[in-house]
Amino acid sequence: MTAQFAKKNEAWSARFSEPVSDLVKRYTASVFFDHRLAQFDIEGSLAHAEMLAHQGIISEQDYSDIDRGMKQIQTEIADGKFVWLLDLEDVHLNIEKRLTELVGDAGKRLHTGRSRNDQVATDIRLYLRNAIDDINVLLNDLRIALTDLAEQHAGTIMPGFTHMQVAQPVTFGHHMLAYVEMFGRDAERMSDCRKRVNRLPLGSAALAGTTFPIDRERVAKTLGFDDVCHNSLDAVSDRDFAIEFCAAAALIMTHISRMSEELVIWMSPRVGFIDIADRFCTGSSIMPQKKNPDVPELARGKTGRVNGHLVALLTLMKGQPLAYNKDNQEDKEPLFDTVDTITDTLRIFADMAGGIHVKAEAMRAAALQGYATATDLADYLVKKGLPFRDAHEAVALAVRSCVDRGCDLADLSTQELRTYSLLIDDDIHAVLTLEGSVAARDHIGGAAPNQVKAAIKRIRTLLK
Ligand code: ARG
Repeated sequence: MTAQFAKKNEAWSARFSEPVSDLVKRYTASVFFDHRLAQFDIEGSLAHAEMLAHQGIISEQDYSDIDRGMKQIQTEIADGKFVWLLDLEDVHLNIEKRLTELVGDAGKRLHTGRSRNDQVATDIRLYLRNAIDDINVLLNDLRIALTDLAEQHAGTIMPGFTHMQVAQPVTFGHHMLAYVEMFGRDAERMSDCRKRVNRLPLGSAALAGTTFPIDRERVAKTLGFDDVCHNSLDAVSDRDFAIEFCAAAALIMTHISRMSEELVIWMSPRVGFIDIADRFCTGSSIMPQKKNPDVPELARGKTGRVNGHLVALLTLMKGQPLAYNKDNQEDKEPLFDTVDTITDTLRIFADMAGGIHVKAEAMRAAALQGYATATDLADYLVKKGLPFRDAHEAVALAVRSCVDRGCDLADLSTQELRTYSLLIDDDIHAVLTLEGSVAARDHIGGAAPNQVKAAIKRIRTLLK
């Protein structure tokens, strides 16, 4: 135990005639969760103190004492020896109090020209910037894993669906690249959000700025911020950057959830397109035959909580007058949980992608059902001069007769096909194969295996 229990909150208690009740203390404290900001709080404090010394607002000796004290605090926290006190309300007051115990008056001078309002806004921005950088690395890893999978299956035919009905053949590689695109946009959104996160509130003090001759640009530079926030009232109060982050995170989870839904469907024995490595699945306590895709199911479920956090922050902000209100203390738990959920989910999915076993035969068999090449027959007729609507009609009649006879279009002889249009010749059979169908979609973004390979090449240059 290196810290003492304080009798009262000395940060403001001189103004009060009675102590707050234990319940109120617990209700208003945030130290249980905001101690996670400690490393960023210290980083921000050191940059502030360095500037105060540079400006002659505190002495160089004070700064060096503060620096020494903070180093010890960092060690205590890393070693799990720092004692967080509920009585000291939050991470900021806990650290400041300990600093003062360690270095005396220099610790008491640290808070000159700042307030917890600009301090906490700075801490959250530093925390989020760090989280965004981690998330972008994980998105990159996931995209690499999915691209590897796509490469192995650039030519593996599977049915493409619309309305969950077999529509046209695609390849599994093409399907995986769709998610690579989605997660690519997610990374763009994170990077874009980072620009607005990366501005410095410190110097705004409680709400109106400070009377001390501070140098905000210096602090911004020390902390790696691109700019300072240009209005003190806005800087201490708005959390739009956190809301934006949660919106980008909710979209990541939406994409994860769509993918999860597909993995669950594909792994169902009724469909049997894939198997997922055992380490991502669990069994049933009662049904010995079961192997359940728990990871994608849970990820689909966790999308709900991330969406919930977005709504929580939007609702938190909407009724607040300028400037800081204590409501904003409620921004942290949703943010932390969003970061934790996204981080764990992306990490697991990148790993799981390598554990997906594709059952190419089952995919192929499914693509052969449902007249997946009907559009190819219509396109063939159009290329021979028939207007598309007439071609559509002719093929619809052919499909109808196949349904009645329980066969595929490719099973009909040229002779039989010619009853629907005399434009049909023997060259039709190459068009009606699954391979012919995908290979014909040979343009940027199309399902042709050589286009999938070209897309993989392009993506790899972006991802390295
Ligand atoms: N724990 C507070 C928060 O998270 C820090 C700022 C407190 N400011 C205040 N005026 N009470 O927002």
